[in-house]
Amino acid sequence: MKPNIEAERDAKAGTITMDEIWIQGGRRLQGRVACGGSKNATLPVLAAAMLAPGRYTLTNVPDLMDVATMAKMLGQFGITSERPEKNTLLIDTRNQRNAEAPYELVKTMRASIYVLGPLLARYGEARVSLPGGCAWGPRPVDLHIKGMEALGAEIEIDHGYIVARAPHGLRGGAISFDISSVGATGNILMAAATAAGRTTIENAACEPEIEALARFLLSMGAEIEGIGTPRLVVNGVPDLHPADAPMIPDRIEAGTLLVASAITGGDVEVTGVDPTHLGAVLNKLEAAGSSLETSDTTVRLRAPERPEPINVTTKPYPGFPTDMQAQFMALLSVAKGASTIVDTIYHDRFTHVAELERLGADIRVEGNTAFVQGVEGLSGAPVMATDLRASAALILAGLVAGGETRVSRVYHLDRGYERLEAKLASLGAVVRRVRP
Ligand code: UD1
Repeated sequence: MKPNIEAERDAKAGTITMDEIWIQGGRRLQGRVACGGSKNATLPVLAAAMLAPGRYTLTNVPDLMDVATMAKMLGQFGITSERPEKNTLLIDTRNQRNAEAPYELVKTMRASIYVLGPLLARYGEARVSLPGGCAWGPRPVDLHIKGMEALGAEIEIDHGYIVARAPHGLRGGAISFDISSVGATGNILMAAATAAGRTTIENAACEPEIEALARFLLSMGAEIEGIGTPRLVVNGVPDLHPADAPMIPDRIEAGTLLVASAITGGDVEVTGVDPTHLGAVLNKLEAAGSSLETSDTTVRLRAPERPEPINVTTKPYPGFPTDMQAQFMALLSVAKGASTIVDTIYHDRFTHVAELERLGADIRVEGNTAFVQGVEGLSGAPVMATDLRASAALILAGLVAGGETRVSRVYHLDRGYERLEAKLASLGAVVRRVRP
């Protein structure tokens, strides 16, 4: 989370907005709404474009602050990007050069660390700022560093920067993660694609965004086996070439829109999704009393008046995603009984709890467990978004809270949702963006 002064300065500089979202709660949502492309799949794919000079056309790219930040990061390396249409991004890496990934950019978006692997692969050296902490804890990058070392890189930390060198190029290695990490798996995949020899990654992340990255690398000419499984094998190739690709649907946006239906007793169909990526989320929505109908690209959710209480534990994919934890906390805060939510990925990702309590939720946190006693109704109040998914949770809670809920600091929301308020309004919510 950015400190207040810094956020206000950035707002003045035009890099973030101080917009608020105002919601009049109590409307039952109904209708059909389209889900956009995945932010967390787009970010590593953009970094992967650094691996081969040329032009790339990416489609179904969400128009989000985080994507703009990554494009800005690529600009540091002489890479140009343009959006001929809202959801198409053209990347040109022909004039790419090595440079530093500066603190100013990396601190605003951890995923900037994705440039480490491609830079090492292309230039044999990289200088990337350490990201530092974030709203809900330290979020280390030790696994990224260990992975690069296993591929032969020498790494030191110098004045807050990761300085990595592989003067004779990267070579294949065996990596076994203690913890499944999305970012470290993606970074190592990119670094290993052109390393000499074979790399194996055990306990690799299986998230759909990593599968999408691996498939993108395949289309660039990489050789990767075991895609979608926890054991990835990369046979390094001398060169890659540019490729074009559509981004996969954003499973977290889809899940958030489904919770919007569930929390308002609604009937909403979300289109442009891949229901196979949503297994754990759909199971929990059903357990909470909603009925679901899925096709290859849609999910329709019809909700009861009030959700049933359930227990949720976040796990690496295919388990329940930590990025849906806050939204489910909002949902379960109005359930017909007591629920528990355990976050095993980020033990203190609970900054939304105090804000939900301002709306009347009854939640007690002990360690990494939240005990949520469902209440009959919430009541609108001014609340403050503290991070991306917390913002979504507060807006969801506002949809059922009586009266008006005003969510401030929605620049967090804009990092990862493309006009969520407009999508909710199209389903009948009374919600608007206000520029104070
Ligand atoms: C990605 C997602 C983020 C999501 C998270 C977990 C992107 C851009 N972001 O973040 O939205 O919440 O996956 O699904 O895709 N860890 C270490 N050392 C490391 C790296 C991670 O200990 O070097 C730990 C983390 O603290 C965490 C766990 O590993 O407990 C998983 O984190 P990871 O999968 O790496 O998250 P990100 O890739 O940062």
